[in-house]
Amino acid sequence: MKTIFDLREKQDDEVYKAIQNLYDEPLKVVRLDNKSITPCIGCWNCWLKTPGRCIMKDQMAESYSDYVNSDAIILLMDTAQGFISHKAKAFFDRTIPHYHPYIKIVDGECHHVARYKSYPDIAFYFDSEGLTSQEEHVIEDYLYRTAYHFQSKAYRIVKDSSLQLRLLEPRKAKRQSVAFNSVEPMKKLVIYNGSPRRSGSNSALILKKVLEALGDRVEIRDLKKRDKWEEWADAFKIEDHVMFFMPLYVHAMPSHVMGFIEQLQVSRGSISFFVQSGFPESSQSYYLEAYFEQLAIRLGRTYIGTAIKGGVEGLQMRPVKAQEKMIEPMVKAITDLVYEGSFNAKSICQLARPIRLGRGMEIFFKVLAKLGLVNFFWDQQLKKNDAYEKRFDCPYLFLKKKTTTA
Ligand SMILES: Cc1cc2nc3c(=O)[nH]c(=O)nc-3n(C[C@H](O)[C@H](O)[C@H](O)COP(=O)(O)O)c2cc1C
Repeated sequence: MKTIFDLREKQDDEVYKAIQNLYDEPLKVVRLDNKSITPCIGCWNCWLKTPGRCIMKDQMAESYSDYVNSDAIILLMDTAQGFISHKAKAFFDRTIPHYHPYIKIVDGECHHVARYKSYPDIAFYFDSEGLTSQEEHVIEDYLYRTAYHFQSKAYRIVKDSSLQLRLLEPRKAKRQSVAFNSVEPMKKLVIYNGSPRRSGSNSALILKKVLEALGDRVEIRDLKKRDKWEEWADAFKIEDHVMFFMPLYVHAMPSHVMGFIEQLQVSRGSISFFVQSGFPESSQSYYLEAYFEQLAIRLGRTYIGTAIKGGVEGLQMRPVKAQEKMIEPMVKAITDLVYEGSFNAKSICQLARPIRLGRGMEIFFKVLAKLGLVNFFWDQQLKKNDAYEKRFDCPYLFLKKKTTTA
């Protein structure tokens, strides 16, 4: 089975016909319209309470079996503000139930263990009109990277005289093509909190400490308040210093953050980014960093830089002292920025360690895995939720009918 997921706003059936010519079997078309993909809220029910199953009841959830039972899927997506649209981003974020919370290490990076035996090849289709060549490159790299972590082969459907399938090759993130800049010390920094979590948010905990340290030199706005977006996007045009602080979601921003970014217009002033992630290695966030550099250029704002901190998942479960130890350098990075007008390069490098996991760490991880300690964090919660026995469930797999012979 092969399925087209059409995530574009405007329907254009001609493209289906052209894409159909690339495949030798009929393609199923699933059109996910505007309200069909509820953004992931990071509740992790799909990992800890109903293994493999998302709690959302929407068209996206209804189409999960089309995803996991296909041997190839074709994603038709829009771009916006030089990246994939928030809807395409929501699609990726909502794909997380198809993987285990369990971790393995591949080339010095953490990966989620597969829940299903195999995953479909993914062919991406987007129009490059309106993108700079750098932005197009960044998007392609990001799509490759996402498919790689989804354990899928990645293709891009490109327009030549006709449509062609091109295999996407591994490429490093094209980051640091824009240098970190500095401005005058900041009278006030507006920080957007991009965590979709309704409770237990690590970002909220960290930003609370930032507020305690900086008082009225900082204003923190929660992007979950959608009714404020219009007012804030308008204010962005005249605000001198703005930072986006967010958890990493599938190697990029959570989808609602992209939704807000799509509303922004060219304006003067500075822009900075802070990304915190679950896995310890900061290389996870490099593809997002590459996009933020391009976004600063697109918005015409002074790029102050992107601070990255890995290993933040589980922050809430640490004893208070250990929490403070982890939060303190993040708060310092932001106070430095406000008081000095720039990130402190040395602290930012320190914060981003490890970039990848070294050989020693890999060996240590293997020993922990042998002792059953790697999955302990997840198993403990699965057991508490009475879901441990179901941890290997593959809820969206079509069961093959048994054939009986006479
Ligand atoms: C849908 C989803 C996707 C995620 N993707 C990544 C990822 O690609 N890499 C990573 O290191 N962490 C990833 N994480 C983990 C979060 O970045 C991490 O848990 C973060 O600390 C959550 O912050 P918050 O509580 O402020 O939302 C993901 C979490 C969710 C829910």
